[in-house]
Amino acid sequence: MPILNRAAEMQHEIAGWRRHLHSNPELGFDVVQTAAFVEGKLKEFGVDEIVPGIGKTGVVGVIKGRLGSGDTVGLRADMDALPINEITGKPYASTVANKMHACGHDGHTAMLLGAAKYLAETRNFKGQVAVIFQPAEEGGGGGNEMVKEGMMERFGIAKVFGMHNMPGIPLGEFAIRPGPIMAATSEFDIKVKGKGAHAAMPHQGIDPIVVASQLVLALQTIASRSVDPIKSVVVSVTKFHAGDAYNVIPEEVALAGTVRTLDKEVAAKAEERIRAICAGIGTTFGVAVEFDWDPNYPVTVNDAEQAAFAANAAREVAGARNVDEAVAPLMGGEDFSYMLESRPGAFIFLGNGDSANLHHPAYDFNDEAIPLGVSYWVKVAETALAPA
Ligand code: NI
Repeated sequence: MPILNRAAEMQHEIAGWRRHLHSNPELGFDVVQTAAFVEGKLKEFGVDEIVPGIGKTGVVGVIKGRLGSGDTVGLRADMDALPINEITGKPYASTVANKMHACGHDGHTAMLLGAAKYLAETRNFKGQVAVIFQPAEEGGGGGNEMVKEGMMERFGIAKVFGMHNMPGIPLGEFAIRPGPIMAATSEFDIKVKGKGAHAAMPHQGIDPIVVASQLVLALQTIASRSVDPIKSVVVSVTKFHAGDAYNVIPEEVALAGTVRTLDKEVAAKAEERIRAICAGIGTTFGVAVEFDWDPNYPVTVNDAEQAAFAANAAREVAGARNVDEAVAPLMGGEDFSYMLESRPGAFIFLGNGDSANLHHPAYDFNDEAIPLGVSYWVKVAETALAPA
């Protein structure tokens, strides 16, 4: 099965939905209009059960197959935009200042709606398909909220699949890998509480800038000396705030940063090392060092069997040569990780061609990818739920 004729036929209509969503971006859990749009479309398609308000503003639609009873397969899209000022100059550009669909979640939502329309028309499967539209992927953990509210149990979801467009991967291609595909992201804040002084009399204070500088350098040893070099870890200090004057040693330095890993144990090791380094540097220089750790999204781990299944579905749509089954993992985070922690499944990248990168003000989702994305969703659903 290459691209479905029906999906190609619907491209224009789906691109219209995509552009409507693109013009009207909403952030985080505040995706009220977007969720209402999704709900309206699912009703129009005759989807059997539509439940809004899961994970605050998430929506789940259930489509029953006509080939008998069976499992439920979950297909997931994200709905939220980013606080970015768009510079594409497109006729359908964002109409809201400082809000923009710069990660293509408009495309993800529109493609899953397209698949829902097709699946509700044809129902060529047994069991059920649950189309999952989540809020707050770009921070906030909307996917986690939906899982915590019991979405998987409530709809009997046995497997779950996710898809993200990817600039740099050619249009018409897919990429996936078994195991970790996106990183765990954690954030930290550190406060070094020194003792202010006249800049000409440093011995009368404890200079927190010198202490914090030692600390930043010591944190570099986590990647270079504490973690197995075969494993991946990023420790980046991204904020270093202190001082107001040329002649004053400040009281305090505020540091912050992020840690990215592809492995739970490496994340735990990094946290343990940062904590120990903060305490040790504090003791060495006689200052209090406060440390705050915020574990954000977990690692997005593709189940090996389901990743092979997903790659197969992608091959059927795009052709064998157009599916990379061993793409390098990305050190970005992804909220779909929570759904994959809860059920086996796989997350796949869909080529967006040579566009500006994700989260860039010139980025735009490639509407030419729509027939591929829709055909992939349909293939996954119909194959996973094929009668024996
Ligand atoms: Ni995204």
